[in-house]
Amino acid sequence: MADNFNLSTKTKNILKRDKISLANCMTREYPLVYKKAKGMYIYDINNKKYLDFCASVAVMNIGHTNKEVINAIKKQLNYGLHCAFPDFYAELPVKYVETVKQFVSKKFNQAFLSNSGTESVETALKMAKWHTNKKWVIAFEHAFHGRTMGSLSMTKSKPVQRDRFGPFIPVKHVPYAYVYRHPSNDEQECVNDCLNKLEKTAKSVKNNLAAIFMEPIQGEGGYIVPPKEFVKGVREICNKYDALLCDDEVQAGCFRTGKFLAIENFNVTPDIICLSKSVGGGIPLGITLANKSIQDWGPGTHANTFGGNLVACASGIATLEYMKKHNIGENAVKIGNYIKKRLIEMKEKYILIGDVRGIGLMIGVEFVKNRKTKEFAKKERDKILNKCFNKGLILLAAGTSVIRICPPLIITKNQADKGLNILEHSIKEVQNVNY
Ligand SMILES: Cc1ncc(COP(=O)(O)O)c(C=O)c1O
Repeated sequence: MADNFNLSTKTKNILKRDKISLANCMTREYPLVYKKAKGMYIYDINNKKYLDFCASVAVMNIGHTNKEVINAIKKQLNYGLHCAFPDFYAELPVKYVETVKQFVSKKFNQAFLSNSGTESVETALKMAKWHTNKKWVIAFEHAFHGRTMGSLSMTKSKPVQRDRFGPFIPVKHVPYAYVYRHPSNDEQECVNDCLNKLEKTAKSVKNNLAAIFMEPIQGEGGYIVPPKEFVKGVREICNKYDALLCDDEVQAGCFRTGKFLAIENFNVTPDIICLSKSVGGGIPLGITLANKSIQDWGPGTHANTFGGNLVACASGIATLEYMKKHNIGENAVKIGNYIKKRLIEMKEKYILIGDVRGIGLMIGVEFVKNRKTKEFAKKERDKILNKCFNKGLILLAAGTSVIRICPPLIITKNQADKGLNILEHSIKEVQNVNY
């Protein structure tokens, strides 16, 4: 990182201090040093303005420094920050859960509050194991569920995330329906193949399958949208083997695909829902929902320190109310369809683009060196990202050679065009040099 960029002394200085004091385990894609942000824009310490096409990794779904959210946080600051909710009682966390419950089926009538995506997944894992009293879990290739040991056991997006961290908890990984990379390149064959492998694996653990964990659209793994029949098939296998379907909506949820839950696009109802990122409006917050009958664990089986943090709940309530009031999902679908259409047009012009896929404002563009062999164009993808960054557009990588487009859901058509023009220009430059 940082070799292809013309950095100011201010930026260099902070990067240097960061390198000395911060753990070296994080991936920083660009030398962006944040100063402030508003709506769709982020400003760095040199006051350079960037159009945000990643919503700080699918967190700032209603844009940056939303007035209603900031006011709700300010108001709560007068009353207190932390009340040890897992040990005492307070109204705000109850109101937060009641607010979330408005957006999901009545089936999901109880929740546990936490602080992050990984914690919401760990909660689901423990909840499923407790309830079923079974040992095994199935997760998918390319999955990303987090980086703590339970969720990491299920994550299988990049080898670097797992190397040296085993032994893991008992998890079996099976292929996700990634039609573009299935040898048949045929939707039906891909679905049949993946469901057969899933069923074989479910059978192999001999009545000891607690849960199947699934992202309804894989995020980190490459913005992979499975066919409807696949998601329905996973539900049926859960029913057949008496296992719980745990739906990881940490990245795809909260109206990113138009619906509150991405799994609604597949007409499937899970047993446990994991949410985080955008549900706190920028303050760390995780929530795991299920029916009360599944949450038959007793006092002391699970808890934490910061779950139900008052500032996080105030921020989360204001964020969700804003989403509801402004029908944010509708804009996600409208602008998402427009962006996808433009990207498909780009695919006609640039052979580097192998695939364009997505629902709402969760869109992936996969780059390949050769459309027949589908060889990953990782270096080219990285060059495109760097060029976009230099031109004032913030995008993020996913999978091996995918660019993910997940802007705040408040994006206008005009802003979408601005970003897409920068992206197209950058693709053109990289393609002209290489081909
Ligand atoms: C689908 C999914 N699950 C879980 C996580 C983990 O969330 P966190 O980084 O907040 O622990 C992520 C993070 O990107 C994610 O995309």
